[in-house]
Amino acid sequence: MTIRAVVAGVGHYLPDRIVPNSEFEATLDTSDDWIKSRSGIERRHIAAPGQTTSDMATRAARAALDDAGLESTDIDAIILATSTADFTFPSAATMVQAELGMTKGFAFDVQAVCAGFIYALTNANALIVSGQAKRVLVIGAETFSRIIDWNDRSTCVLFGDGAGALILESAEGDGTVADRGILSADLNSDGRFRDILYVDGGVSTQTTGFLRMEGREVFRHAVEKLASTATTALEKIGLTGADVDWVVPHQANIRIIAGTAKKLGLPMERVVVTVQDHGNTSAASIPLALSVGKQRGQIKTGDLVVTEAIGGGLAWGAVALRW
Ligand code: UT7
Repeated sequence: MTIRAVVAGVGHYLPDRIVPNSEFEATLDTSDDWIKSRSGIERRHIAAPGQTTSDMATRAARAALDDAGLESTDIDAIILATSTADFTFPSAATMVQAELGMTKGFAFDVQAVCAGFIYALTNANALIVSGQAKRVLVIGAETFSRIIDWNDRSTCVLFGDGAGALILESAEGDGTVADRGILSADLNSDGRFRDILYVDGGVSTQTTGFLRMEGREVFRHAVEKLASTATTALEKIGLTGADVDWVVPHQANIRIIAGTAKKLGLPMERVVVTVQDHGNTSAASIPLALSVGKQRGQIKTGDLVVTEAIGGGLAWGAVALRW
């Protein structure tokens, strides 16, 4: 008997305001055509003034609880992946816990930037497999619009806000790749690359700062490292790209998504793509794509799903799971 962390529900939330590429043409030397052809992005959602990461995370969490047919009191732990928490402390996760009316268990944030949801999933899996928790609410939520330099055309057109949530619950499996639930994970980071993607402020510098990125350099690392981590996660369970029903990649750039799929030997018909509608929502992008992929009827119970992400750090990783 093997304990598995199985998906019990998924949900998401996107702020009401949708900003099409054409809106940037009025203030910046850019065009809808440039943004679409270089990134695949057509529009993004932007949080309302005063709307916070924990607010969006709570809404996504409620949608996931509804999807699972569960109450917040059924949850043992919350892990929230974010780089844009409401406050320095307490964690946004404990704020969500309070909003959901959950007074037992524990909650904490994970910060691994765009790879945050992969790190959070891996931690949730470890909590379940070790018997520490039976049901974990795993959330990715971001308000990157607050750390964007709106005068920097090379970054501001790429990002958006949103939240997605997944509930994992303990279930017995046979210990084979036919089991539902998380089957393998692969995590990596390399701090030598901190200068190619970072925010130039923070608590100890007493500024909020803005996101800075050497896009071309990040791009180069992304395709190679994403294909490699996804392959490693699959190799750990004796599988290859040919066994995968759906790749659910971090949604940063359609050219990175396509390049990675090609390296994995997978056609784009087996890739969940939401980047055109959401832009890059950092740690929220994978749970948003999982939720939208399920809603569209793409991801079904029993499908083998591989998720992969890379972001600031650099930090990157992949999780293979049977839905
Ligand atoms: O989630 C974390 C991970 N982040 C990513 O994965 C992002 C990775 N990088 C990328 O997605 C791409 O590198 C970008 C979309 C950021 C840029 O695409 P690119 O094909 O690598 O373009 P580039 O940076 O090489 O820039 C090409 C040109 C430059 O002009 P010059 O130097 O060739 O004269 C830029 O100044 O495009 C210019 N440019 C723009 N032009 C119009 C940069 N931003 C814009 C813009 N509109 N918004």
